[in-house]
Formats: sequence, structure tokens, C-alpha cells
Amino acid sequence: MKPVAPVVMILAVACTFSATAAAQTPAERAIKYRQAALSTMGFHFFGILAPMAKGERPYDAQVAARSAKFVAELSEMPWHDGFPAGSDAGAPTKAKPEIWKDKAKFDKLAQAMQAEAAKLGQVAGTDLATMRTQVQATAKACTNCHDEFRAR
Ligand code: HEC
Repeated sequence: MKPVAPVVMILAVACTFSATAAAQTPAERAIKYRQAALSTMGFHFFGILAPMAKGERPYDAQVAARSAKFVAELSEMPWHDGFPAGSDAGAPTKAKPEIWKDKAKFDKLAQAMQAEAAKLGQVAGTDLATMRTQVQATAKACTNCHDEFRAR
């Protein structure tokens, strides 16, 4: 009866995971997911790339290239799974209910930002001046959405 122990262990682990998932509503999961993705993107964008562009942090081409690659990849993550219908409430959130009233506009602003982030991923690590221009363009694309769809 030796194989029993591993099976019991696997079941115990599986139950722990499903219990955690069941404790959260779908809206709560979506809210936490999008905030995690946006927060990680913000870590690299506002925390590393913007200060480098502003001269508040020494320019390091390798670090810039890496952070910009992460921003470009993370810029795709929040939207599809993070903003389902009904996730305007259910956990503390700054997402305004207007998002779900004008989803087309919200999605367009998300796509515009992804386009700028993709360009940032391409130019960061080349030279500081080029990166600075693209950091500014990307920051504007963040603000365009935050001004309208994120509560202060
Ligand atoms: C299409 C709209 C949109 C765009 C574009 C956008 N954001 Fe946001 N962002 C939001 C919304 C909505 C929230 C609030 C999410 C919540 O609280 O549920 C948010 C929240 C955040 C947060 C706080 C996350 C947390 O709760 O810890 C950060 C950081 C952030 N965004 C960074 C960025 C950066 C950096 C960019 C540009 C590279 C960007 N965002 C572009 C809509 C957007």
C-alpha cells in the first residue's frame, strides 16, 4: 500500500489550491490579477525607466532594455482577463465603472499604450535620448487612460 501516501499528498495539495480559489469571487480574482500586472508594470516603468529618462537614476543600457522588455510584455496582460464584466466591484479598486460603460474606448486606450510599450521595448538600450522620447510617449498613453478611467 506504499503508493497511497503520495496520492494523499497530491490530493491535500489540490484541495489547498481549490480552497484558496473558492474563497475569492471571480470579480475579486480579476481585480487582484489586474492590480498585480499593473503594479509590476509600474515597478519597471515608473520605478526604473522614467527616473532614468529624467536623469534621476544613472542610465544603464542593459537595465533599461530589460525593464522595457518587461513593460512591453506586461502591457498585454491586464486587459483580457483583468477587466471582465462585473469586476467594477468586489474588492478595493480604483477602476471606474465607466470602463464597462465604454469598453470600446477603454480597449482602444489599452491598445494605444501597448503600441507605445512595444516601441519602448525596441528602443530602450540603444541610447538615452531615443529612450527618453519613447518613455514620454508611453507615459502619455498611461495618463490618457488613468485620467479618464482610474479614480484618484
Ligand atoms: C486602458 C487603461 C489603462 C492604461 C493604458 C494604463 N492603465 Fe494603469 N491602471 C488602469 C486602471 C483602471 C487602474 C486601476 C486598477 C484597479 O484598481 O483595479 C490602473 C492602475 C495602475 C497602477 C496601480 C496598480 C495597483 O493597484 O497597485 C499602476 C502602477 C499602473 N496602473 C501603471 C500603469 C502604467 C505604467 C501604464 C502605462 C505604461 C498604465 N498603467 C496604463 C488603467 C490603465
